Amino acid sequence: MAKKKSIPELKHLDHVLVTEAAIRRRIEALAEKINRDYQRRDLTVIAVVNGALIFTADLLRQLRTPLRLDCVRASSYHSGTKSVGKPVVIDNLKLDIKGRHVLLVDDILDTGKTLAAVKALLLKKRALSVKTCVLLDKKARRVVPFEAEYVGFDIPNEFVVGYGLDFAEGYRNLPCIGVLKPKYYAGKL
Ligand code: IMP
Ligand code: MG
Repeated sequence: MAKKKSIPELKHLDHVLVTEAAIRRRIEALAEKINRDYQRRDLTVIAVVNGALIFTADLLRQLRTPLRLDCVRASSYHSGTKSVGKPVVIDNLKLDIKGRHVLLVDDILDTGKTLAAVKALLLKKRALSVKTCVLLDKKARRVVPFEAEYVGFDIPNEFVVGYGLDFAEGYRNLPCIGVLKPKYYAGKL
């Protein structure tokens, strides 16, 4: 196989917090736990896009339970790194989740506002159960009480990019998770 070419934007990183190999190993462990917990019960996975896109794609391929996939869109960030008020959840679910076990998947649990809003929506639609799986958890930033049942990595209070997470819509394609050099956040923090 041809050698993988490195992405030029990797040079914008100040430091890497989670390597590609560490992400892969952790997803295997998370999936094993989810497989054990659900015991092949029918599952509806709901991903919060765009951020959870890459994580969900990798996680799904490790799940051994019959599942369906749908997405919701939520946004509270505009181009900076600061959350702007209440998250807007766009309810464009195509699947009926009434009486279903739902696994809600997101890239990162930060203030908790987004996942609290999405979970409330899913419960309002009478899901039988809703558990949450996040790749990253920034506990120090929590504003509303929210805990995820499945957490990949606890990370410090730094704005991170890569593996689906963006800054001003960039960097989602980096294979690892890291913090940008200050000059790349300049004027937008
Ligand atoms: P919350 O509502 O504050 O928990 O925000 C969650 C959403 O904000 C996530 O789904 C991300 O899209 C975004 N977000 C929070 N922290 C970061 C970060 O460090 N990098 C990139 N996006 C982030
Ligand atoms: Mg997001």
